[in-house]
Amino acid sequence: MTSLDRPDLRFRSSWAAAVAEFAAAGEATMHGSGLWEFEHVDTTEDGARGIVAYLLAQADPALALPEGRVHCTYFWITDKPADDPTGEREFVGYLALRHSLTPWLLEQGGHIGYAVRPSRRREGHASRALVLALGEAAALGLDRVLLTADEDNVASWRVIEAAGGVYEDSRKGMRRYWVPTAARTAARTADRDPGGGPGRDGAGRPRARR
Ligand SMILES: CC(C)(COP(=O)(O)OP(=O)(O)OC[C@H]1O[C@@H](n2cnc3c(N)ncnc32)[C@H](O)[C@@H]1OP(=O)(O)O)[C@@H](O)C(=O)NCCC(=O)NCCS
Repeated sequence: MTSLDRPDLRFRSSWAAAVAEFAAAGEATMHGSGLWEFEHVDTTEDGARGIVAYLLAQADPALALPEGRVHCTYFWITDKPADDPTGEREFVGYLALRHSLTPWLLEQGGHIGYAVRPSRRREGHASRALVLALGEAAALGLDRVLLTADEDNVASWRVIEAAGGVYEDSRKGMRRYWVPTAARTAARTADRDPGGGPGRDGAGRPRARR
């Protein structure tokens, strides 16, 4: 079962294997990892300790950030090992949830980025992780989030569209989608609930507009 965990040293060995796997696949960027600033991703125990601390700190609203950077909650997508369903959960991918948008994020980057390690793709991890992330976004007070995908990244469009993404437009080769979060979905459900909700009277009739 796909989970979203905060980065943690207990996932170090599967994370280290995944870092090597991304590099071997020519994907050293690792979308959603938050590690683009690291010239070398040090996966030793000491290196991982520093990286985990750095990633966790980025979510702290008290952390002062350089111009153009926003606070971001980094998650590690985890699951049971593919060959051992009884084993401990292990790292399968990254997901970054940015708390707000800069002009560049509004055009290109969006609120959420993710990547699944090559050997664990097409198992539904990205799709399930995005649904979980929508709940996290709602908890941050976001009622919709922007997701972007390269025009040729069909897998990513599918992930976004399956989560309810509504295509807005394409800018500089990126498809841009708005995805309602759990907060908005819950509000809409309440609105349809005949028993009440902001748009209905007790008998389920639409409330008169004033
Ligand atoms: C995009 C990515 C995250 C998808 O991860 P994943 O865990 O394999 O995705 P899922 O298993 O949830 O699959 C989602 C959908 O995409 C489809 N899909 C997956 N890989 C695909 C591919 N290479 N070509 C076409 N469709 C693909 C799946 O069949 C599924 O569609 P369905 O629900 O209609 O069956 C993964 O390919 C990846 O890490 N790519 C590199 C990083 C990246 O592009 N990140 C997104 C930009 S921020």
